[in-house]
Amino acid sequence: MSLAAFLAELDELQSAGQRALDEAQDAAALEAARVEFLGAKSGRLKALQKQLGAVPPSDKPAAGKRFNELKQALDAALEGARQRVESQRAAAVDTTFDPSLPGNTRPLGRLHPLTQTIQELQEIMGRLGFSVADGPEVEDEFHNFEALNIPAAHPARDPLENFYLSTAGKVVGGPYLLRSQTSTVQIRVMEQTRPPVRVISLGRVYRPDTADATHYPMFHQIEGLLVDRRVTMADLKSVLRLFAQSYFGGDVHIRFRPSFFPFTEPSVEVDMTWHQGWIEMGGAGMVDPHVLAAVGYDPDEYTGFAFGLGVERVCARRHGVADIRDFYRNDVRFLRQF
Ligand code: PHE
Repeated sequence: MSLAAFLAELDELQSAGQRALDEAQDAAALEAARVEFLGAKSGRLKALQKQLGAVPPSDKPAAGKRFNELKQALDAALEGARQRVESQRAAAVDTTFDPSLPGNTRPLGRLHPLTQTIQELQEIMGRLGFSVADGPEVEDEFHNFEALNIPAAHPARDPLENFYLSTAGKVVGGPYLLRSQTSTVQIRVMEQTRPPVRVISLGRVYRPDTADATHYPMFHQIEGLLVDRRVTMADLKSVLRLFAQSYFGGDVHIRFRPSFFPFTEPSVEVDMTWHQGWIEMGGAGMVDPHVLAAVGYDPDEYTGFAFGLGVERVCARRHGVADIRDFYRNDVRFLRQF
């Protein structure tokens, strides 16, 4: 092959290669052009290099020099095309995105203050060895009254004082009512387990009270029950005091005032110290021997205490909520504070 013919092919390859690299619009087209012209195995440059051997020896230095210039030119063109394709790609990315703008805050939900209170009370009582028991909100008269020593003629059973369900006579085991106290769970637990018993139960109770700052027709109670040998009122007072100290913090004192509940004997109202005064926490007492006997416990062998406190009341006290209806208005401005 003559030098002139070789140089002619070289020129033709240079302009074709330059054009292909210049026209590549994306990385794939660029790679195809690279393989076609600069490919190490079967690229056109490689093929031309083989023809260099056919050039007369005296022309080889000139031919080789031009060949090297061509290779450098195509390498440079490839690099230039790479940078062009890359900056085109970057420019095509959405330029309306401004990473310096403030982000959207995702509002975080939270548990209702009463749910938070219930969880905290369960945790406190759990540390004192009480496990959680549960019972139905729709109850029969046996568990809401009878077994709790509240006989048929008792005023607490007045239909006007309770939410009876209008299923009387239509369902077995009725009449049913929405439980008016969590003391029902005392009975349900003792029916199922042998002493010793150490449980709490937290849940909704229902009474047809007119809603005001301290009443609501549905509210929550925490019920505690401990039955074992030689349980005394001193144990009751200690547990209530530890409970109040844990929930309210500080050096809380507990006071008992004589009271009456059909299912405890003796019965007390429980007060605790709060801001230089006393506030009422709920009711308590020693489980009445009749109640123990009714669930098959031997009252000569076992004694126990029980207490029932209002969840809304303790929560409202701690957080300074003046009106318990706020717990049920679902106003996020109120709920967000907890
Ligand atoms: N069940 C009672 C009430 O609702 C409270 C109570 C519970 C009293 C346990 C004594 C023992 O008022």
